[in-house]
Amino acid sequence: MKICVIGTGYVGLVAGTCLADMGNEVICVDNDLKKLEMLEKGIVPIYEPGLEELIKANVMEGRLKFSSDLAEAVKKSLVCFIAVGTPQSEDGSADMQFVMNVAESIGKAINGYKVIVDKSTVPVGTAEKVKAAISKHYDGEFDVVSNPEFLKQGAAVDDFLKPDRVVIGSDSPRATAIMQEVYAPFFRTASRFVIMDVKSAEMTKYAANSFLAIKISYANEIANICEAVGADAEMVRIGMCSDKRIGSQFLFPGLGYGGSCFPKDVKALLKTAKDNNCGYRLIESADEVNKEQRVIFINKILHKYGQNLSGKTFAVWGLTFKPKTNDMRMSPAITIINALLEHGGKVQAYDPKGFEQAKTIWKDKITYAKSSYEALEGADCMLLLTEWNEFRRPDFDKIKDMLKTPVIFDGRNQYDAERMKQRGFEYICVGRKY
Ligand SMILES: NC(=O)c1ccc[n+]([C@@H]2O[C@H](COP(=O)([O-])OP(=O)(O)OC[C@H]3O[C@@H](n4cnc5c(N)ncnc54)[C@H](O)[C@@H]3O)[C@@H](O)[C@H]2O)c1
Repeated sequence: MKICVIGTGYVGLVAGTCLADMGNEVICVDNDLKKLEMLEKGIVPIYEPGLEELIKANVMEGRLKFSSDLAEAVKKSLVCFIAVGTPQSEDGSADMQFVMNVAESIGKAINGYKVIVDKSTVPVGTAEKVKAAISKHYDGEFDVVSNPEFLKQGAAVDDFLKPDRVVIGSDSPRATAIMQEVYAPFFRTASRFVIMDVKSAEMTKYAANSFLAIKISYANEIANICEAVGADAEMVRIGMCSDKRIGSQFLFPGLGYGGSCFPKDVKALLKTAKDNNCGYRLIESADEVNKEQRVIFINKILHKYGQNLSGKTFAVWGLTFKPKTNDMRMSPAITIINALLEHGGKVQAYDPKGFEQAKTIWKDKITYAKSSYEALEGADCMLLLTEWNEFRRPDFDKIKDMLKTPVIFDGRNQYDAERMKQRGFEYICVGRKY
């Protein structure tokens, strides 16, 4: 099948590559010429495990192409995915300018029946608006469907190739059949299509992401209570999770959620609820608890060292909003490092993949170490902010030797608190009295 994916970011590049890997002819379109130039040279602008190899293989086979020519790509394709960003606007709603620009361009280029797929996370009613924008320029047949994406950064290729479910919101049997054909190769053992009307599909994505955000905020609130009453949040988590009704995912206390999705999707759902005079207390609280969680962590540092951090050096392990990605968008590390700098502290950071984006945020305001241990040199303490695998079993003797004082603030509860005490560390984590 001939497919184009408009927007070659974390979602579009992964989706386009995986669709090409299933034998489709795919054109990935972007208007960022620098990004396209890199891709043409075989340089992948984002980090996702397994992505680079898959891109190379599919480019070599001639199934995957990159282009800035949206019109040409649309003309050649039967299915056109819109996967551009929908960032947060000032009032909390999703900023729809990129999606609507693309819809207009599709309207000007379309030359026959096509399925236009909203893959971006968009508010209820967007498919209708996309349809109207295309219809302004074109009076032939086409359908607009909603196909929200559920991949997780850090495991995006795997998630796309083996999805838990594929939600298709469609009011046209013809378009539904084409979408099923697109995704059938991804379901070799069991079909996991969830087919519904367009508005319900648009809503499903916000409902799912906000639920996960609420789970994380709940875990954090419980951890804070544990800390106050002397219970151990890690034991409480394990005790809770063994109940099948609760499950084990998204209940790790820490620094709260970040990234380009949960914060903005929670805000957008909140705005939708307000605009429609519906209740929104739970959704609003998820966001408030999340912001507060970072402040609580910063206060632990200020409690130990005082408000004036000048003369103090902080070694930071992990900058990205989660492991296995280079994405720094809305990362808790941004809030925490900015607070340290505002209070006069010095930061020596290490992250396996996040430096390029980090340098655009802090430039020379912080030091970028070549290894996790180099970041510790002469530092007063270590802060663990992202749970990369390589931080799980470090050489604690070496850490102790390199730090001025053996103090670790662990925002991700990576180590056994009892053992850390035995090793001679002052270990300050989340959800345990310290
Ligand atoms: N990142 C995730 O984990 C994730 C997961 C599920 C859903 N989503 C949703 O998918 C959408 C895309 O997210 P992302 O993280 O991939 O965004 P991104 O910012 O990484 O990528 C968006 C791309 O669209 C391009 N673009 C913008 N306007 C364009 C235009 N007119 N023509 C061609 N290209 C254009 C940009 O240059 C950029 O490369 C968002 O709605 C997001 O909420 C993201």
